[in-house]
This record gives sequence, structure tokens and C-alpha cells, in this order.
Amino acid sequence: MYVKFSQQLLNWYDDNGRDLPWRVKNYAGRQNIAPDPYHVWLSEIMLQQTVVATVKDYYAKFTQKWPNVQALATAQQDEVLTAWAGLGYYARARNLHKCAQYICSEFGGNFPNSETILLTLPGVGPYTAAAIAAIAFDLNANVVDGNIERIFSRVEKLEDELPAAKAKIYKIAKKYLPTARYGDYAQALMDLGTAICRPKNPKCDICPIAEFCVLAGAENVQNYPKKTPKKPKKQLKTNVFWVKNAKNDQVLLQKRPEKGLLGNMMEFPSSPWLPQKPAEVQAKNLGLITHIFTHIKLEMQVWEMAEPEFETLVNGGFEVNLSADKQWVKPNELDGFALPSLMQKVRKLAET
Ligand code: ADE
Repeated sequence: MYVKFSQQLLNWYDDNGRDLPWRVKNYAGRQNIAPDPYHVWLSEIMLQQTVVATVKDYYAKFTQKWPNVQALATAQQDEVLTAWAGLGYYARARNLHKCAQYICSEFGGNFPNSETILLTLPGVGPYTAAAIAAIAFDLNANVVDGNIERIFSRVEKLEDELPAAKAKIYKIAKKYLPTARYGDYAQALMDLGTAICRPKNPKCDICPIAEFCVLAGAENVQNYPKKTPKKPKKQLKTNVFWVKNAKNDQVLLQKRPEKGLLGNMMEFPSSPWLPQKPAEVQAKNLGLITHIFTHIKLEMQVWEMAEPEFETLVNGGFEVNLSADKQWVKPNELDGFALPSLMQKVRKLAET
């Protein structure tokens, strides 16, 4: 039964698997084309919290700028953060850069072909280690991401709720592993989760493994996997300042602290992020922006100010987070900086 499951899935993948820039599909007749581990690693880090459609452009930019791990290792962290800006979860970019340097210093620029050793790399957790092991080296690794959790929770009609159910799903997935083509199999499951076993409106009628799935075609299939309700997000508020210099052609930009949210990314100065509404400011009100993080909903009141008024405000005891690493930048040159999406929103508001 398990053999037939993986065979039918792999046959489906050969005909229906996506062509992705980092992917080498192991079609019959192309058996010896190995994927580049650097490409697989880079794509997997990007895909950790980001959808394929968004990742494609960033992947193209990164591989063009840094065609191999040595090139990435010699880049400056600021360059990497700038190229990553907009993708979110910036610890990924800092670890990506660290990992590239580590691969070069400890492994001669070659990714290790061992799941256990991959797990020791910066930014590489159990999922990513398994994915790289399977996809880059065709090793027998149990790759389980969110898509794959959904598939197996439906196949066996698991009543346990995520995230607690993860360990059980991992064990279920292990039973179905094939005896060859491990990389293709993992990617086949991912593609099945995207194209067929979708969160809503799954296409059970054309699913290649429907005959093995307890919930195939069932009315309530989209209620699986069951999930423990998430905690509501913390609601925080802040004032953000678009500060113009005397010549009126530059704005104040600063680097955030290395530690914490958006570490080492650039920002326009803001007041501390707090639950209560921040004080009004005597300045031009540019509007209100909301930005959603994983655990935080942040409301930003954006103010435009000239430098002297901003100085007066700060000197008068109005609390603003100021960094030692400040600079004046022409707005049309902001693309050259590591501006996260929430600050891109501020910029857009100020420029229109
Ligand atoms: N999501 C995470 N890794 C992926 C991959 N290699 N292919 C498609 N989707 C993915």
C-alpha cells in the first residue's frame, strides 16, 4: 500500500510537478542532473515563510548577484539585508549570510550531504535540513512542511490539533516514505499540497492518492488538519517621523539595533511601540498605516517634520527611539537601503 502511494504520487509529479527555477525534476532520461545544493538551500530558506510566487523574484535577484555560496559569503551584511528587504523575517537573511560564511570556512564551500550536519548550520532547522538532504542530495529524509502536514492529516483523518499534532504527523509521514527518489517525492508532496490538497476546496476528484485517503471527497475534508485557535495579536501603536533636512531634499534614516525585531534593518525614527495611543504631535499628519507581523498588529501614525522642529520635540522629552547609526538620504535613493515593508509603506505615504 505504501509503495503504491509513493509510486502514484511520483507518477503524478512527473506529469504535473511545477517547473521552478531552483528545481531539477528527475524525469526519466534526466536522471543524472543533480540540483545545485546552493540553489536548494537558498530557495528553502526563502520558502520557509514565503509563498513560491513571491520567492521567485528574490531568488532570481540573489542568484544573479551572488551565483555561488562563496560570492554570498564575501558580501556585506547590509547588502544582503537590502536585497532581502520586503521578504520579511529578517533573521533569515542574517542567518543566510552567516551560513554562507560558515559553509566556506568550515566545509570548503560545499554543503554537507548529511541531514544531521545540515541541522548544525545557522538558520537551518529540522524541516530545512530534511528538505535540503532530500532535494539536493536525494537522501532518505522525512520532509514535513505545512502542506505535507495537511496531506497526511487528511490521509489518516487525524483528529489531533496542530501545532500539538506535529509529532504524530511526522510519524505518519515516515511510514509512507519511498525507497528511492526521495527529493522528487518530497517535492511531489509539496506540489500536491499546493495544487490538489489545498486548504480550501481540495480537488479530491483528480487526486492521485485519493484511494489511500480516508477523507478523499468527504464534505468536511477542509476542516483538516484541526487547529488550536491562535492567540490574538498584540496591538501596538507608534508615531513615525518623516524628518526632512534644511535643504528639504533628504530624510532621516537610521539603523535598528542588531537584536530584536527587524534587527539591523533601516527605519525612519519612531516612538516606542506601546498598547496605548501615542501623543499627538504639532506637525503635518501624513496618515495612519497598519502593519501586521506574526505576533503584532502595529498602527503607525506618520508625521512629517523639519529637522529643527524634530530636534525640539526630542529635546523637549518626547520619547523617540534614536540610533547612533543615522544618515540623511534622498528619498529616491531609499531603494539602496534595507527598508522593511512597513517602512516602505511609510515612504509611499510620505511621497504621495
Ligand atoms: N515550499 C518549500 N520548499 C519548496 C520546494 N522546494 N518546492 C515547492 N514548494 C516549496
